[in-house]
Amino acid sequence: MMKLGDIRKIAVIGGGNMGHGCAMVFAAAGYSVALYSRRLETLQKGIEAMRKDLTFLAEHGLGKLEDVEPTMARVTTTQDMAEAVADADFVLECVAEDMALKQDVFQSLDEMCKPDTILATNTSVMSPTEIGSKARKRDRIIGTHWWNPPFLIPLVEVVQTELTPPWVIDVTMDLHRAIGKHPVHCKKDVPGFVANRLQHALWREALSIVERGIADPATVDESLKYGPGLRLPVLGPCENADMVGLDLTLQIHDYVLKHLEDSHEPSRLLREKVAKGELGFKSGGVGYQTWTPEAQQALRSRLLTYLIKAVKQMKEVQDK
Ligand SMILES: NC(=O)c1ccc[n+]([C@@H]2O[C@H](COP(=O)([O-])OP(=O)(O)OC[C@H]3O[C@@H](n4cnc5c(N)ncnc54)[C@H](O)[C@@H]3O)[C@@H](O)[C@H]2O)c1
Repeated sequence: MMKLGDIRKIAVIGGGNMGHGCAMVFAAAGYSVALYSRRLETLQKGIEAMRKDLTFLAEHGLGKLEDVEPTMARVTTTQDMAEAVADADFVLECVAEDMALKQDVFQSLDEMCKPDTILATNTSVMSPTEIGSKARKRDRIIGTHWWNPPFLIPLVEVVQTELTPPWVIDVTMDLHRAIGKHPVHCKKDVPGFVANRLQHALWREALSIVERGIADPATVDESLKYGPGLRLPVLGPCENADMVGLDLTLQIHDYVLKHLEDSHEPSRLLREKVAKGELGFKSGGVGYQTWTPEAQQALRSRLLTYLIKAVKQMKEVQDK
């Protein structure tokens, strides 16, 4: 049984967008981190991106410029997975979202790691139980679902399986608190965990409203951003129900739920757009709306600016 204080070295498997971003957060919090990727180019790009992101954060009041190089010095890179995990106490897998690939990675990790090393997958929606099915010691395999960008979004969903002993959850929750994240405990291994189930219930309704011609895509987004979306950072649905009254919530659900989208299939319009190659930013800007390169850049900048402000505000509240 491990405690938080026993965790000294972290290994991150996969050096893509999430892999190098999560590695950076562990290193910034003082941990030694080994970052593994098959390709040297991925590792080189990851290191470059980490230095750029740490500098960007420091320039915007999150961290200090003089801490950038000491943080980078805590990260080592390797193309040898066994070397990365040899003395690791906690391993975070961040390879592509492919079940067979992840199963093979966890089979190897299980063979290569110390017996009590915790093995976590950053899968967005897939089952940690299924991902760990080829390993022998499966009780130490859990989900830790970070959100993108990993250096700004505080949430990490810690996903328990039927085999997980309480100490694995406790240490993992403690570890993520210690690195400044906001871990939440998902008590069952269900597809989409908590936050992606919530998010995609909302997206299903949004895309259905567009498909049924009730409102155009921009109006759907405005209806959230200028309305209920504004309250969400301080008032979740369960808190909101308590505030307005469970009786009113029941009356509303009695009337409206039968009219909401409950399809188990993706939206027809979504399928048609994908078939036509209308994929959004990545296909010349045509998706639900049409985006010029300038509009795409402006939206990305607005999001980063907003997230930085929101994270700073959260930190100020926590520090009080
Ligand atoms: N991008 C997001 O918004 C996001 C958010 C949360 C969780 N995730 C999850 O994190 C994981 C990684 O996603 P990402 O966005 O960093 O993807 P990415 O494509 O940026 O990186 C994936 C990495 O996996 C590596 N890889 C692919 N095939 C491999 C193989 N056969 N062996 C070893 N490595 C291999 C690639 O080289 C790459 O470095 C996925 O499970 C994803 O669902 C992604």
